[in-house]
Amino acid sequence: MAGLQKFARVVKEVQRDVLAARERDPAARGVSRAEILTTWPGIHALLAYRVAHALHCAGVPLAPRLISMLTRAFTGIEIHPAARIGRGLFIDHGAGVVIGETAEIGDDVTLYQGVTLGGTGFATGKRHPTVQDNVTIGSGAKLLGPITIGHGAKIGANSVVITDVPANSTVVGNPGHPVRVDGRRVEGPDADWIHLPDPIAEAIGALSARIAELERLRAEAGESEPQPPAQVTPLRPVRGRNPAGG
Ligand SMILES: CC(C)(COP(=O)(O)OP(=O)(O)OC[C@H]1O[C@@H](n2cnc3c(N)ncnc32)[C@H](O)[C@@H]1OP(=O)(O)O)[C@@H](O)C(=O)NCCC(=O)NCCS
Repeated sequence: MAGLQKFARVVKEVQRDVLAARERDPAARGVSRAEILTTWPGIHALLAYRVAHALHCAGVPLAPRLISMLTRAFTGIEIHPAARIGRGLFIDHGAGVVIGETAEIGDDVTLYQGVTLGGTGFATGKRHPTVQDNVTIGSGAKLLGPITIGHGAKIGANSVVITDVPANSTVVGNPGHPVRVDGRRVEGPDADWIHLPDPIAEAIGALSARIAELERLRAEAGESEPQPPAQVTPLRPVRGRNPAGG
């Protein structure tokens, strides 16, 4: 009974994937569902993934990885069976797409050929991107690490994205940086949300400086030994260039 329910769910998911291809691929206008199902490599990869993922969730050994490996050989698209993919994903052309084990993809996402949702190194645990609903990722884009790509964002072709992406923004370049947010050009000093100050680190740094000054005065008065000042580092290292271009 549970097996039948899973099968019915996979069929529904694949129907929705075919619909997504019809809606979002200009080359699919006027093409029948049967033709899309039989000749679109992105659809084949998703069909195989949906089966492999159901088997993976049921704890079946070997078969999910075998399906994933064979699908890669046929379509050039590699999706780890443990990845979590929502409804209506459309993978256009497909070759060279890699979706890692801990990647999460929301609903109605579009990926072009050569997209990588990968890790940055040998880290374990959550190490691949989370892509929210209605995101479009251009051909050749590499999204690396446990970053979040906000709802409705567009990632330009060949971008390399290693930091979170705000919702409804367009990100391009290497390193990927927002050039549009809510359709507006990103500019001005207030647009730099990457290099925000860390108020807690700043407060602790100020206290530490005052303590160091008191200790210096005590040491000068011969009341104690001089102490090295405390090191205060922000919780989240600030990297990446100013999206406002400053
Ligand atoms: C990013 C993209 C989605 C356009 O998004 P958009 O929000 O409409 O953005 P715009 O076209 O207004 O471009 C915004 C800026 O980014 C630049 N830009 C757009 N795509 C870029 C890219 N891939 N790399 C670098 N810069 C890019 C534009 O020149 C523009 O620059 P400006 O601010 O100096 O004017 C689109 O250019 C893209 O890369 N799509 C991928 C499509 C694809 O992979 N097709 C493969 C089909 S086989």
